[in-house]
Parts: sequence; structure tokens; C-alpha cells
Amino acid sequence: MNGIIEAGPTHAAALAAMHELAFAQEPWNEAAFVALLSQPGMLALIHDADGFILLRAVLDEAEILTIGVLEKRQGIGAALLAEGLRRVRENGVRVVHLEVATSNAPALALYKKCGFVPSGLRKAYYNNGGDALMLRLDMATPVAHRS
Ligand SMILES: CC(C)(COP(=O)(O)OP(=O)(O)OC[C@H]1O[C@@H](n2cnc3c(N)ncnc32)[C@H](O)[C@@H]1OP(=O)(O)O)[C@@H](O)C(=O)NCCC(=O)NCCS
Repeated sequence: MNGIIEAGPTHAAALAAMHELAFAQEPWNEAAFVALLSQPGMLALIHDADGFILLRAVLDEAEILTIGVLEKRQGIGAALLAEGLRRVRENGVRVVHLEVATSNAPALALYKKCGFVPSGLRKAYYNNGGDALMLRLDMATPVAHRS
């Protein structure tokens, strides 16, 4: 896929640098990415130097741990999400979960567009007291042509 590569522990510093720019409030450092990237079932994708996604799969379920882009509204987030979903699906994943702040309108719009639906609410989940919406995507049906 154009511009998207699979990342490993050698990309931990680059991922940390991008994460800090995408999540200024709660950056994950290089050591955190080294630890994450050595976990079984982890898939990390980088879009050039301007976006990333981490998913962790266990059997037929996966979780999106983080996604961020530096140049927003260029289709990079959607491309990373689609490629991440395609790859885990190829490996047998059928259900994908994630948590997103109820105040995060861009992310909520992205996930909704990709077919995620609400599956729960975690009150005061974040350090700032914000709530988390739990979302779920059932990939038993094709994901390629959702609109
Ligand atoms: C959420 C995020 C990854 C989206 O990435 P992006 O590359 O800007 O998104 P895309 O350009 O691929 O947009 C895809 C779709 O998402 C929706 N969307 C994305 N940003 C949006 C915004 N600011 N307002 C409304 N809808 C938005 C739209 O439906 C869009 O499709 P469209 O452009 O055809 O209308 C990006 O805003 C980001 O990095 N945010 C900071 C980190 C973060 O909050 N990550 C999510 C944690 S759960």
C-alpha cells in the first residue's frame, strides 16, 4: 500500500516523536513503544513520517491502541485505519474494539465512517475526567465499501 510500512522496534523513536505531536497531552515515549512493539499480536503501521496506527490482535479479536496523524484531513487516518483493519482481518480477526474520548469529534467521525458502532461508555475514564466511548467493528461482513 502506498506510503504505509509496517513498523518494528527500530521505529520506536520515530513513533514516539509522532505520538508526541499527535497527543501533546499524553505522549508515549520511546521505551513505551519498544515495549509495545515486542508484544505478541502487535501490528504497527507508519504512513511516511506523518501518521501511525497500533493494533493488537488476540485470536479473532483486535484492539486499536492508538492512531494519530500530523497532517490532518488529508485522508491519512482513514488510509492507516483501512490498512490496519485489512491486515488484521487477513489474519483472522473478526471484531475490532477501541476507546475514544466522547469529546474527540474528528476520531468519532472517522470511526463512524469506517463502520464502528458504540458498545459501551466508561465514565471518567481519562485523567482529565472525560468519558470514553467504547466502539466495536464487526468484520464478518466486507469492510472495503462502507460509506
Ligand atoms: C482522528 C485522526 C487520526 C483523523 O485523521 P485524519 O487523517 O485527519 O482523518 P482523514 O483525513 O482520513 O478523515 C477521514 C474521515 O474522518 C472524518 N474526520 C476526520 N477529521 C474530522 C474532523 N476534524 N471533523 C469531522 N470529521 C472528521 C471525516 O468523515 C473524514 O472523511 P472526509 O474527509 O471524507 O469528510 C486525527 O484527527 C488525529 O490524529 N487526531 C489526534 C489524535 C487522536 O485523537 N487520535 C484518535 C484517538 S482515539
